[in-house]
Amino acid sequence: MSQTPDFDEIINRFGTHSVKWDGMEPLFGVAAADGISMWVADMDFRPPQAVQDALKGMLDHGLYGYFGDDAAYHAAIRWWMSERHAWAVEKDWIFTTHGLVNGTAICVDAFTAPGDGVVLMTPVYHAFARVIKAAGRKVVECPLALEDGRYAMDFAAWDAQMTGAEKMLILCSPHNPGGRVWSVEELRGVADFCARHDLVLVSDEIHHDLVMPGHRHTVMANAAPDATSRLVTLSATTKTFNIAGAHIGNVIIADPALRARFAARMAALGISPNSFGLIMATAAYSPEGAAWLDALIPYIEGNRKLFDAGVNAIPGLRSMPLEATYLAWVDFAGTGMATEEFTRRVEKGARIAANHGPTFGLGGESYMRFNLATPRKVVAEAVARLQTAFSDLQ
Ligand SMILES: Cc1ncc(COP(=O)(O)O)c(C=O)c1O
Repeated sequence: MSQTPDFDEIINRFGTHSVKWDGMEPLFGVAAADGISMWVADMDFRPPQAVQDALKGMLDHGLYGYFGDDAAYHAAIRWWMSERHAWAVEKDWIFTTHGLVNGTAICVDAFTAPGDGVVLMTPVYHAFARVIKAAGRKVVECPLALEDGRYAMDFAAWDAQMTGAEKMLILCSPHNPGGRVWSVEELRGVADFCARHDLVLVSDEIHHDLVMPGHRHTVMANAAPDATSRLVTLSATTKTFNIAGAHIGNVIIADPALRARFAARMAALGISPNSFGLIMATAAYSPEGAAWLDALIPYIEGNRKLFDAGVNAIPGLRSMPLEATYLAWVDFAGTGMATEEFTRRVEKGARIAANHGPTFGLGGESYMRFNLATPRKVVAEAVARLQTAFSDLQ
């Protein structure tokens, strides 16, 4: 049965194998005793009740054999994409991977060869570069420009960077970090750029449900229908509904030739999803899931306003205006401090674990990323601690 979500509830996540909370002390040196974890992108909220009920149904039945019918799962994805994104997806276009980092890695494997270049618009989600490098491909960093304090695309500069060895571009849409919801014109610009340089276009839209009021995301498939022959779209329930541990993602490919190449790699790797992920994702892409999400967005927006007002009041700090995601991207450049110094103040002074900007690639050097998907009280406490840790700048 559906219940109104209580995003204010503080839920103790220590001792649950949570990388965010149990990893805070070993990974960031921020003591568990009174630290605040604001790094990896999962939320401190329970998922929709429909997801909990679906899992309880499995537990009550008590058998966990092979899963043999993904019809309901495919129908749920198609319903969600049509309802929330005005996108008509065919059942045969959908592949289910072990999450989207896995989906990205299979794309790299299927559509590029060792030594090829893969283009990223940096700073960007760090796991892209990790899988590209691990697969023996080259990361081609195309730095985003800053316009009025927000990220913008710089196609002229990027055209000049291309050598012909690049075979794929991974777009993060909406963008992590920085929270841009790319406009239709920008998305068309990306598709044209990929056409000019003959790149497979992987559009990672994992954050496309987490869009702040007043902004509208367009799926790449709708923004640039002429890009279909080179387009792979990644989406998932995991970020939207806070079920990242389910490790399940959708790779959606309309073009039959691209699909055949992706399917061949999936088959060669023997990848098939686990039943827990399928059951949870099916329950999430539902009217109950939609109602939960519609309650979540204004809560995140409230957290963002509180965080930005408090952080932007500290001289030298600037939080980028978020259009999507729950990840605040804070620039410390105005403090004049070295990266080590502002990081030390955040971790040792404010006792907050936040992602280090340089891990996001070129352009991230003076930044840290803070996860705002936590009860408002925690955000308020984090802001107060940051103000104290940088109080000499007031
Ligand atoms: C852009 C982007 N892609 C993928 C992921 C992770 O996907 P998964 O957990 O499905 O591997 C994240 C997580 O933060 C992300 O921000």
